[in-house]
Amino acid sequence: MPENETTAPSLENLLHETRAFPPSPAFAAQANAQASLYEEAKADRLGFWADQARELVTWSTPFTQTLDWSGAPVAKWFADGKLNAAYNAVDRHVEAGLGDRVAIHFEGEPGDTRTVTYADLQREVSRAANALTALGVTQGDRVVIYLPMLVESVVAMLACARIGAPHSVVFGGFSADALRSRIADAEAKLVITADGGYRRGAPSALKPAVDEAVGPKDGEPASTVEHVLVVRRTGQDVAWTEGRDVWWHDALEHADTFHEPVAVDAEHPLFILYTSGTTGKPKGILHTTGGYLTQAAYTHKNVFDLKAESDVYWCTADIGWVTGHTYVVYGPLANGATQVIYEGTPDTPHRGRWWELVEKYQVSILYTAPTAIRTCMKWGEDIPAGFDLSSLRVLGSVGEPINPEAWMWYRRVIGGDTAPIVDTWWQTETGGIMISPLPGVTATKPGSAQVALPGIVADVVDDEAHSVPDGGGGYLVLSEPWPSMLRGIWGDLQRFKDTYWSRFEGLYFAGDGAKKDEDGDIWLLGRVDDVMNVSGHRLSTTEIESALVSHDVVAEAAVVGANDETTGQAVVAFVILRGEHADRASTPEGAEEVQAELRNHVAKEIGPIAKPRRILVVPELPKTRSGKIMRRLLRDVAENRTVGDATTLADSSVMDLISAGLAKPS
Ligand code: WT7
Repeated sequence: MPENETTAPSLENLLHETRAFPPSPAFAAQANAQASLYEEAKADRLGFWADQARELVTWSTPFTQTLDWSGAPVAKWFADGKLNAAYNAVDRHVEAGLGDRVAIHFEGEPGDTRTVTYADLQREVSRAANALTALGVTQGDRVVIYLPMLVESVVAMLACARIGAPHSVVFGGFSADALRSRIADAEAKLVITADGGYRRGAPSALKPAVDEAVGPKDGEPASTVEHVLVVRRTGQDVAWTEGRDVWWHDALEHADTFHEPVAVDAEHPLFILYTSGTTGKPKGILHTTGGYLTQAAYTHKNVFDLKAESDVYWCTADIGWVTGHTYVVYGPLANGATQVIYEGTPDTPHRGRWWELVEKYQVSILYTAPTAIRTCMKWGEDIPAGFDLSSLRVLGSVGEPINPEAWMWYRRVIGGDTAPIVDTWWQTETGGIMISPLPGVTATKPGSAQVALPGIVADVVDDEAHSVPDGGGGYLVLSEPWPSMLRGIWGDLQRFKDTYWSRFEGLYFAGDGAKKDEDGDIWLLGRVDDVMNVSGHRLSTTEIESALVSHDVVAEAAVVGANDETTGQAVVAFVILRGEHADRASTPEGAEEVQAELRNHVAKEIGPIAKPRRILVVPELPKTRSGKIMRRLLRDVAENRTVGDATTLADSSVMDLISAGLAKPS
């Protein structure tokens, strides 16, 4: 079990938040999802999902069975149906006469652009599928994709889907070692990579990591990889292994633009995506085709209120994460959307780059992460204010609980006080959104994901798996199978059962703490291993972070529980001050004053018990490449230990920066 796990939370933390924002009548009237969707799903849950699957997905062999749960916890959805995910994402739109619709507005970091229509995409994906076949990849073979955010990345994923070869995308920021272990675990036959990509204004190489990952190393034999397909992006020099390495453009140039998609069983593996557990080796989360695609399309259409003919959608996630799989590739394309894909970082060449793109492409739906929103808060609202953001009509948030202050900032500064915010809770394992407001139905509350989507059954339970009453807290569980649920951990059925199904009999345990408010709405409190116990009181790191960020001077905050002899744990907070206040902490007196102010502020917001024992003003926070704060490293600092393994940080110099700044005792 996760460390620090105790009984259900007892704090009245985020429940002080009482603001609510009902949808405007105009938005509600035009929304895809109406309140009746909940009724419909409730009346006949399986029938509801079967309807979605028939309506939103095109089957080459229609299914007759909806759910087979006899092999629980491994579900089968729509099992006797056959389909192809790439056909659904591309060809059927061309067949419907929409070939000229833009599928992707690509924007490279250096400013190069490319417009790809659905007809273009069909030709490219078909070519790539033929090229993969020519390289010996057949149905069932695993292909690892290690690419920056390029059009080719989307094409590569769809080409795999088209021939029934499960892809395993490894985020381009991962190291050669991480890549090597994933290739080995998946026993991949082929790797698709690039010479490099543009990051912060400079080419950043990728191919050397692949060379290191696939060759023999430290007595280990060379990997199972037979070919490496290389996209030319930056033009930088690459080492070349004759016979193994093939240029993407060469392979595609000679490939036919026609390819017949392979109809696979609904339960055929579509992809494996590795996510790190708290310890041990990464878990290869397995997703299959029919159920996954159904939920991807259904959630994308209803949660974002997508109008494919008029919206311009932009999800800022990298394809290396599940958000990029479901909400850059499969969901939007299955729905025939027009979307923006941006290669680079939000601050290159200037901190308004994202907002410039929103203005340029008239983006109407934006889906991003709280960490990005808080970073923008830190940079100051005058930056987005310099751009026309009036095209935005729906805003999404994902990845971690969004603190009410960041939510309010997002709504006001980015959404012009009108665009509904959907705070979407889900996981790599769930494959698609599970808990979220519906933008035309739900009165949204800052900081809460609120309600299980129609067709999804979620609950908050106590240690004995009893549903907690409204106002109570405990563990988030999913009580009924859902179409896009993981079908296992690649090659490790036992670990799948142990990790998710052993804590509570018959329930999927998500690993998150949660609370129900008086309306029964769900508030996520963060992973249970991020929950602290101070003098027998359960405190959420999220909640204290939220309190800190609600203070004017704080841009970002991370809280950890440091071991303490008397109280069990003590709250230690790391804060980044907002630009205009950063100077205040530059003298010892100033720092002390800020710390006292913040301690009192937390005491006021939550209660004296939550007052941080120590508050450390730092220039940066250690984050993984997916934007998650690595509290483990902060705990090391808070407990005066040597800082542990920091190799998965997005920027490995951050810990040095923090330690150097803290050399003087605060
Ligand atoms: C964990 C899953 C889902 C795609 C990106 C992350 C946290 C995610 C929310 C949210 C509160 C959230 C949970 C979850 N999380 N979305 N809206 N509110 N927490 O995928 O890496 O698999 O992480 O992210 O703790 O368990 P992931």
